Amino acid sequence: MATARGFGVDIGGSGIKGSPVDIDAGVLAEERMRIPTPQPSTPDAVADSVAEIVEKFAWTGPVGVTLPCVIKDGTALTAANIDKGWIGTDAQSLFAERLGRSRDEIVVLNDADAAGVAEMRVGAGVGHQGQVVVLTFGTGIGSAMFIDGKLVPNTEFGHIEVDGHDAESQAAASIKDDLELSYEEWAPRVTRYIQSLEKFIWPDLFIAGGGVSRKGHKWIPLLETRSPVVAAALRNDAGIVGAAMAAASSEKS
Ligand code: BGC
Repeated sequence: MATARGFGVDIGGSGIKGSPVDIDAGVLAEERMRIPTPQPSTPDAVADSVAEIVEKFAWTGPVGVTLPCVIKDGTALTAANIDKGWIGTDAQSLFAERLGRSRDEIVVLNDADAAGVAEMRVGAGVGHQGQVVVLTFGTGIGSAMFIDGKLVPNTEFGHIEVDGHDAESQAAASIKDDLELSYEEWAPRVTRYIQSLEKFIWPDLFIAGGGVSRKGHKWIPLLETRSPVVAAALRNDAGIVGAAMAAASSEKS
């Protein structure tokens, strides 16, 4: 029997990546295509890049797209690490028009929410009930919260205040790179961040994602947190896979 396929596109501040996805296995069905994010990363320029990727694979079905933005009913309400012109943009209609599809064939969701969807379905979150929070450490810090496996969309836990600062300006993976911190030097910042977050929420599990989760064994054991923290399983493809899953499941509903 043929496995169900979907298509996901993950839009980030530096790159736009997309690929067909094997929905059941939660893996890329083909080698992904990545193009640098246009600068400035305006809605029209980014929509052109998304179309280039989708057309390259001659994909004609529904498409899931992530943005580093709060997304309500397909409209971006914030824009972090991407052009501010996204704020107020009906991204779902924009992509639908640019890809020649109806609006309901496109799903747009927050990038961390998409990564979380994939982790819960086929990654580190499989079988975990209760409250699970996925944190993605990259240019910023993204978050996705699940209650008994169901996504509570648009949590923005990367922006809680830590010692008077925006959390992601202290503990994102980009800060580790910018300040050339070792894992031993960066881990206390992540501890401080998660401990601050734990004042407000009591998750049963944190899943740490983003590129830096690949080296999770070097810093996750150094964290001092109340809730357990495990490394994400899907790494850099989680956004693409989760976006494709979101689009495929909305098609069924
Ligand atoms: C944004 C989030 C996004 C995260 C990761 C944050 O700055 O506010 O919406 O999920 O970065 O890209």
